[in-house]
Amino acid sequence: MHLPSFLWLWKIAAWSMGLSLLAYIMLAVTGIMMWQARNSQSMPSFPGFPASRGGVRSLHYTMGISMVSLVLLLLAIGIIGTLGHFGSLGHSSHLIAGLIVVFLVLISAVSATQINPSRPWVRTLHITVNIILCAAFAWVSWTGWTVVQKYLP
Ligand code: HEM
Ligand code: HEM
Repeated sequence: MHLPSFLWLWKIAAWSMGLSLLAYIMLAVTGIMMWQARNSQSMPSFPGFPASRGGVRSLHYTMGISMVSLVLLLLAIGIIGTLGHFGSLGHSSHLIAGLIVVFLVLISAVSATQINPSRPWVRTLHITVNIILCAAFAWVSWTGWTVVQKYLP
């Protein structure tokens, strides 16, 4: 297929990745705010959101859904673009990095829906997975940036 027609696709990938990282940072901030609120019983607030734990929690949730959507979009772009260009998958370690990120994000999101006081280990799982996700994000960005060089004019 014609090269420039792929460049715009990788530009969307780069922008989506930037937004995913932004969502990740906001999730970390709101996650820590919830953690502190749970341990101190105070009510944190966030500009534009009601000053209650519910406000921070719903912001955390909204950001979480955004991050999951962006990562699935990136997966789709990666697979469609690679199939369109090569007709097959698996041309670098970017594939395994991408699949690991998708896997971790899905575990994080599913575990989040199961967090409740009777199952404290689920919260631990959610937080641990998200810390590992930070390294996986760095890996997928690095390998993605490396393979994108092939498409640059
Ligand atoms: C995949 C998207 C995510 C979703 C849907 C999500 C959702 C949730 C939910 C529903 C809770 C329970 C809140 C409560 O206690 O009532 C929670 C807790 C938490 N999340 Fe997330 N989250 C996501 C990603 C993240 C990320 C990326 C981080 C950090 C980098 C994070 C850090 C935390 C922390 C620290 C808590 C514990 C709060 C507490 O102890 O009360 N989350 N998350
Ligand atoms: C969560 C983030 C991402 C996921 C899940 C993801 C997923 C994938 C997958 C599964 C492939 C197919 C790889 C193969 O079969 O070899 C792929 C290819 C590709 N992705 Fe990503 N990707 C992500 C981020 C990025 C970023 C940030 C860039 C850089 C702008 C990027 C650029 C590319 C390129 C250029 C290819 C073509 C691979 C090649 O030519 O060998 N991706 N992506």
